[in-house]
Amino acid sequence: MSDQLDALTRLVRKVAGLRLEESRHHALRAALARAWPGVPHAEVVRRALDPITGPGTVARLIDEVTIKETSFLRDRRQLVSIDWHELHAGAKAHGSSVVRVWSAACATGAEPYSLALLACEAFTSTTPPVRILATDISSSALAATAAGRYRERSVQGVAEPLRSRYLKRVGDSFVVIPALRDLVVLAPHNLVSDGYPPTGEAPFDLILCRNVLIYFDSETCGRVVAGLERALAPGGRLVLGVADALCVLERAAGELDRPRATAPRSTAPPRVPRSRSLPPPIVVPPPNETHEDLMNPDAHYLRGLGELEAGDAMAAVSSLRRVLYLDPEFELAAFALGRAHEKAGNTQAARRSYAQTLRMLSARPGPGERLAGPIDAATVIDACEARLAALAALVPLSVEKAARR
Ligand SMILES: C[S@@+](CC[C@H](N)C(=O)[O-])C[C@H]1O[C@@H](n2cnc3c(N)ncnc32)[C@H](O)[C@@H]1O
Repeated sequence: MSDQLDALTRLVRKVAGLRLEESRHHALRAALARAWPGVPHAEVVRRALDPITGPGTVARLIDEVTIKETSFLRDRRQLVSIDWHELHAGAKAHGSSVVRVWSAACATGAEPYSLALLACEAFTSTTPPVRILATDISSSALAATAAGRYRERSVQGVAEPLRSRYLKRVGDSFVVIPALRDLVVLAPHNLVSDGYPPTGEAPFDLILCRNVLIYFDSETCGRVVAGLERALAPGGRLVLGVADALCVLERAAGELDRPRATAPRSTAPPRVPRSRSLPPPIVVPPPNETHEDLMNPDAHYLRGLGELEAGDAMAAVSSLRRVLYLDPEFELAAFALGRAHEKAGNTQAARRSYAQTLRMLSARPGPGERLAGPIDAATVIDACEARLAALAALVPLSVEKAARR
């Protein structure tokens, strides 16, 4: 990589937290060619580092390199598990007449408008007691959200009668109806450097932050999740994307299980010992392990996550197996064991662990039930299904079975 591309990569990471992997350098080159055709890379670096032209140049660069892939009702299961009436009851309990929602890193708006649509349906009204803040680092993403105009591909998740109720066909595009637009307020927000909650905002009853943490490194990921949790109103709910939750599970065990200020709102009866408030993460096994530690599934779980993060997959497999021996109902440990088996190259065992996790989760009363920190049952179910699908694509079961014969 040239020194110039190297400098720009570091700048994008510093300002937006985004890792531009080696494999995406062709994308960086293409972004530079689009934004500044014919301008030498060295000149772009000079402009980016200049105190006057720097902010505009860097903002333009970030606008070009961000991936804004999104669609209506994406990861539908997460969205339909939102209980709007419960959120409203919670909002009223802390003195707000409206449910305050934040769609962080909203891209071109399909996510906040999907939330608006679902809220309208839940309250059977086009003026539900809901306000949705939609933010993104990219100004072109916010402009597209303001326009609210989408191609067929983005809205294919919206079937009739919802489609004709909330989207108006204009030529070969679909435009969101004004009632949805009225529920959404737009603002720029950089998850890496701006405040939590965003300036001038009160805490939120519901925050969605999906499909963006995957682009951050582990430290940034942990800081962003901590910030999002700080921005929650008492009893509020944080929904991470399926892939983001995987990131958090693997990279930020400590943040995952930070004890919360208040218990999450739930009408379900408490289930012991499934909802966990874990001790701080243990990355290196303590030399003077007590008998209590040896019998404590939480301690082995955190150690297993630490080993997984440190790349010691075999040690993680052994710690996580021990967790399930001590507590056969520990779903997150079963899931993490799947990850550990995958990292150790044992696809078959990974599949068994994910299938076991799904069986354990099927015993839970609802997909919205919280397992730990921001992770709910629906998220882990989706993550298991995504991993099972990925593994099936990698090695079809029949081939694998034949190979083992
Ligand atoms: C793949 S889209 C996700 C859109 C939507 N949340 C979804 O799941 O469909 C990722 C979005 O994250 C935004 N983004 C990237 N880095 C960001 C940062 N540091 N702060 C805020 N938004 C960021 C990008 O501009 C992009 O629009």
